[in-house]
Amino acid sequence: MKTDFLVIGSGIAGLSYAIKVAKEFPKKKIIIICKTESKETNTKYAQGGIAVVSDILKDSPEKHISDTLKAGGKSCNKKVVEFVVREGPERLKELISYGVLFDKTKLNSFDLAKEGGHSTNRILHKGDYTGLEIERKLLTEVRRAKNIQILQNTIAIDLITNEHLLEKQLPHLNSCYGVYILKSKTGSIEKIISKITVLATGGVGQIFEHTTNSETATGDGIAMAYRAKAEIKNMEFIQFHPTALYQPKISTDFLISEAVRGFGGVLRNRKGEAFMLKYDVRKELATRDVVSRAIVSELKRQNEPHVFLDCRHISKKDFQKHFPTIQTKCFNLGIDPNKKMIPVVPSAHYCCGGIVTDEYGKTTLENLYACGECACTGLHGSNRLASNSLLEALVFSHRCYLASVKTITKIKFQSRFKELNLSYKKNINSSLNEKWANMSKKIMSENFGILTKFINIDKGIELLQEIKTISHRSFQDFISPKTLELRNMLTVSLLILKSAKKRRNNVGVFYNSDLQIMNRIRCAET
Ligand code: FAD
Ligand code: SIN
Repeated sequence: MKTDFLVIGSGIAGLSYAIKVAKEFPKKKIIIICKTESKETNTKYAQGGIAVVSDILKDSPEKHISDTLKAGGKSCNKKVVEFVVREGPERLKELISYGVLFDKTKLNSFDLAKEGGHSTNRILHKGDYTGLEIERKLLTEVRRAKNIQILQNTIAIDLITNEHLLEKQLPHLNSCYGVYILKSKTGSIEKIISKITVLATGGVGQIFEHTTNSETATGDGIAMAYRAKAEIKNMEFIQFHPTALYQPKISTDFLISEAVRGFGGVLRNRKGEAFMLKYDVRKELATRDVVSRAIVSELKRQNEPHVFLDCRHISKKDFQKHFPTIQTKCFNLGIDPNKKMIPVVPSAHYCCGGIVTDEYGKTTLENLYACGECACTGLHGSNRLASNSLLEALVFSHRCYLASVKTITKIKFQSRFKELNLSYKKNINSSLNEKWANMSKKIMSENFGILTKFINIDKGIELLQEIKTISHRSFQDFISPKTLELRNMLTVSLLILKSAKKRRNNVGVFYNSDLQIMNRIRCAET
């Protein structure tokens, strides 16, 4: 297959980009590939909403910029923060022009919610299913475009780069020419040759035992970019969402949106004490790093598996109106939020690092762009401000589009590439693969998280390296969707641990208790 634009991923980032280039170049071809069904993405699960300045009386870009910088622990790129916030309203208008609906007040202004780290109500939302609303409307818009083809159940294996060229042709810089794919329904391994390739593959949450993320979130884009020698950064900054529903036997956790705390939900320990004030004056609406660490500290102190989110004081009508999905989920489990407290626990949620891009989403490989959760643009620093992710995806997919428009006419197709020496085997060692994937998740969860230590980081690296070696030997010549995922999960997990090993300061979501002790000793000495 040959295409002008290849988009890997069908979440908010990939779809928004595809819609724009399709409109700009009606004669050019765009292919979007996605691992499973097109709507199965992290985007679909977004609850709280999208942070955009819309109320110019109570809010301002300066306030949003300041909140983002504060949350990011002084590690954000200020220039990026400024343009993302300032371009937000324009991108929001486009989203609305595709038919995306946001809740309004009786006075027809946006019903703005509040979330942790925001100094004012700023989050536009559709009930508690904002992501589903966005995903559906973007997919409808994509289907309207005659020049976009979506290939579902199509897994990107590896990017095609200079090392895959059959003869050393023109290129001097390492470039991307498309991707090797596995069609999971037929088992065929093919190439898609493209002029421009966009990685929009989302997050990494599934490398942990418990995550809020979609099953597609195994870090494939980051792992592929790493293998292709693109720069990767900030992988140690894994954000844990403080309040996932506590269901120990289920690995993909259901989220209890931060907007519930923004609406008055109170965190309580087993004794019924509201504990957040002990940790931060912003209480439940402190940033996620603070709230998650506070919960872990309570859990340790009380030796309990979860804390509670108390919403009993929120009227039934209000809860139903603002959080219909959460209410249904709780009801199905026999929890009436109006009568019982909701058991909650932190869960792996968001990867603040990823594939390094410039201000236009360009990676360090020619003709390869990245946007959305897989990218590290400089917006989030060491801790993403709530609801800034959908915003980032919109702003950066637009900027990738602007850069693509400038370069596409100058790019020529390269044609002769090596074939991959791999064959498909449907159930190749599937139980073994599953065992290793589970072991890998367990190792990550036991050795890296909201709190970590050098000894754990080293142990994690050693154990994961072992699994990597054994699994590589077993699966050398054969692949299946699951073996590909395992390879990527191990790569990304090791990237995280190796980045964590190098970090010498606790900042944002990263907290190594050894560094804290070393700091104390240093302070005492001076
Ligand atoms: P995704 O939407 O995850 O899409 C990734 C795509 O890549 C999928 O189509 C997948 O199939 C494809 N893909 C992956 N690997 C491959 C491969 N190897 N081959 C082919 N295709 C591949 N953020 C906010 O701003 N506000 C919120 O309210 C909010 N709530 C959230 C709630 C939950 C439960 C979760 C999990 C996240 C939430 N986030 C929120 C974060 C936000 O939803 C995500 O960061 C964002 O949607 C990511 O969009 P994306 O387009 O980058 O990736
Ligand atoms: C939530 O609704 O709490 C998730 C918001 C986010 O991840 O930005």
